[in-house]
Parts: sequence; C-alpha cells; structure tokens
Amino acid sequence: MISLDGVSKTFAGRDSSVEAVRDVSLRINRGEIYGIIGFSGAGKSTLVRCINLLERPTRGRVFVDGVDMTTLSEKELRLKRRKIGMIFQQFNLFASRTAAQNIAYPLKNSGLDKSGVRDRVRELLSLVGLEDKENSYPSQLSGGQKQRVAIARALANDPGILLCDEATSALDPQTTLGLLKLLKNLNAAFGITIVVITHEMQVVKEICDRVAIMENGRIAEEGEVFSIFADPKQRITREFIDTTSSLSKIYGLIGGDSPAVRIEPGECILKLRYLERSVSEALISTISRRFGIDADIIFGSIELIGGAPLGGLVVIARGGPSGIDAAIGYLRQKNVGVEVILDARGVSELPDSERDVKTAHLFQVNR
Ligand SMILES: Nc1ncnc2c1ncn2[C@@H]1O[C@H](COP(=O)(O)OP(=O)(O)OP(=O)(O)O)[C@@H](O)[C@H]1O
Ligand SMILES: [Mg+2]
Repeated sequence: MISLDGVSKTFAGRDSSVEAVRDVSLRINRGEIYGIIGFSGAGKSTLVRCINLLERPTRGRVFVDGVDMTTLSEKELRLKRRKIGMIFQQFNLFASRTAAQNIAYPLKNSGLDKSGVRDRVRELLSLVGLEDKENSYPSQLSGGQKQRVAIARALANDPGILLCDEATSALDPQTTLGLLKLLKNLNAAFGITIVVITHEMQVVKEICDRVAIMENGRIAEEGEVFSIFADPKQRITREFIDTTSSLSKIYGLIGGDSPAVRIEPGECILKLRYLERSVSEALISTISRRFGIDADIIFGSIELIGGAPLGGLVVIARGGPSGIDAAIGYLRQKNVGVEVILDARGVSELPDSERDVKTAHLFQVNR
C-alpha cells in the first residue's frame, strides 16, 4: 500500500518559489490501478515522483508498504526503488542498446548470472509481446513497442508497484488501447499496483479503479472511477468527464446557437446521469406524471465504466418553475446526477416587452 500523508513540495527559485504539491494525503491500495488526472502543471509528476522519492517532499510523509520513505538512507532508497518500476511519456530507453540490453540493464546487480539474465530478459520480452524484437534498437521500434520495452525494463526486478507518467500520451489511440490492455493484464496476473498519471479521462475510464483529480497542486476530488463519472462534485472533474462523453456535445450546440437547443422562457436544459440502463424511460415518464413537466430528450447515451452501465440524458424540461424544481429534487433523491445546463426559468417573469428579446445573455448558462 502507498500512503501519502500531508505531502507538499515547493521548488524554491532565486526570486520566487513554486508550490507544485500542496498538502496531499491519499491512499493507494495494494493491487489497484489508481489514476491521477489533471491539466499540465497541476503537479501530477511531482506528486508521483514523491512516491519513490525522486522528489523529496518539503513536508509530509510517504509510506510504501509501511516503510516511511522519507527516513531511508540513499542506499536503502536505491534498494527500495528496485521494487518500484517507472515508465515515462518519452520511454527513456538507451538509444545505443538493443531491446534486450535495455531490459537487462536493471538486472546488473540482481545476482543473476549471464544465462539467468538472458532467460529473464526473454521472459520479460514475451510478457510484453516482443519476443521477436530482442536485438532491435529503439530507433527500429514503433512508439508502442518502445513503451513495451520500457515496461519490460521497469518490471525486471519484479516490482510491486509500477508508476506510469503519461505513458501513453505520445501514442495514437489504437496503440494506447493496446498498452492499457497490457497494463491491465499485468495488474490482473501479478497483482502489481499501478499508478497512472494522465491528462486523458479516457485512460482513467479504460483501466483505473480509483482516480484523483489534481488542480493547482491539490486533490480536487477523489474516489471510485464509477462514482466519479456518475456523480462528479467538482467543476474540473465535470470538465474532464465531458471530454469522454457524447452528452457534452450539448455545449457545442448551445455555443453554436443550434435550433435544437433554443429554449423558450420558462424552460431549462438538464443533463442527467444515472446508474441503470432501464430507468431512462421510467425517469422521464415519472417526472412528467408527478410534476406535470414535459421533457424532450436531446441526447441519450450508455457508457460502460469498469463494466457497469452508466446512462446519461440531456433533456429540455418545461413546466411551471416549481414543477421543475420539484422534479430536480426528486431525481437527486433517486441518485440521479442532475446538472442544469441552460436555465431560462427566470426569463418568463420579465415584462412582455423584454420577454421577446430571447438573446443568450438572458439565460443563465451554468458553465
Ligand atoms: N524541478 C523543478 N523546479 C522548479 N519547478 C518545478 C520543477 N518541477 C516541476 N516544477 C513546477 O511545478 C509545477 C508542477 O509541475 P509538474 O511537472 O508536477 O506538473 P504536471 O501535472 O506533471 O504537468 P504536465 O501534465 O505538463 O506533465 C509546475 O508549475 C512546474 O513548473
Ligand atoms: Mg507531468
């Protein structure tokens, strides 16, 4: 288990300093795949480098399997780091060494003799599906293959933890999927704990069990991936989720003033997220029956997150303002995530002369 306890990291410059990580506490369980997502500069790399103490925290403590990393001597740290593999966006392979030589590198002081090293390297090459690339140099490999070599090298000493810093960011979507699958298989086969840094929510959705969303050096939100997708609490989390959801097309339509989303005074546009596939029909008919409101569906979607279906709807709701409020309250009570995306309810209270001016600025856009 990895446990960070009030970890902060400040980089002091001559004239100014940067607080890259601010008071972060989190726990990563053994055998889980944990995502850390955030925009550039959020502090993700710095935070993860605090786990193996490539960065020494300015404050706080870092425990790996119960050992306080901040108290270890350099020698003890070196030994401990052998059990924490790491891979990077730019692969960091030795250009002048073959795939096999790159993978053999961390086995130097492992106590294995020459043939032991050769066997282990072959085993690792086969683990990442590169049996035939033993003698290829990095320049002769594709990006995906280079990252596989880097993974094999990171696993050479049988680490319990693998840290992946933007490991798929330089790769195309297809290659990314292949690598994520490999990481997932390694996790399932060896129970290896994997920490995945990314700025792509798709990566989190594909393989992570839990995720932390980082902003300005802090954890903005943290939890099971499914609950985060089903019911994001923070604005930044919603922004990341929107990048993977077809429902977020609604914002483009609103921005482009599409006729499909032009609403009348008294109406509003709602985005709903809920857990089971079957409920969408029932939800809409229940709220119209109980609260006397109409709901036109603009978009609907079902996504699989960690194998569980997550439904989503974008609807235009119309009816009395109190009816809409009551319906929203009811939906939330039923654990449906409700976001009011565009709200023209206040508009109907304007005098007739102004009511005709249906320009966007009359509506409150909740983004
Ligand atoms: N060695 C350093 N010296 C000074 N400042 C640093 C150092 N490393 C990182 N920083 C600063 O700390 C902040 C966080 O950087 P970090 O690399 O952790 O962000 P990140 O979330 O990994 O970003 P990216 O997605 O671009 O990789 C940034 O403002 C960065 O400039
Ligand atoms: Mg980084």
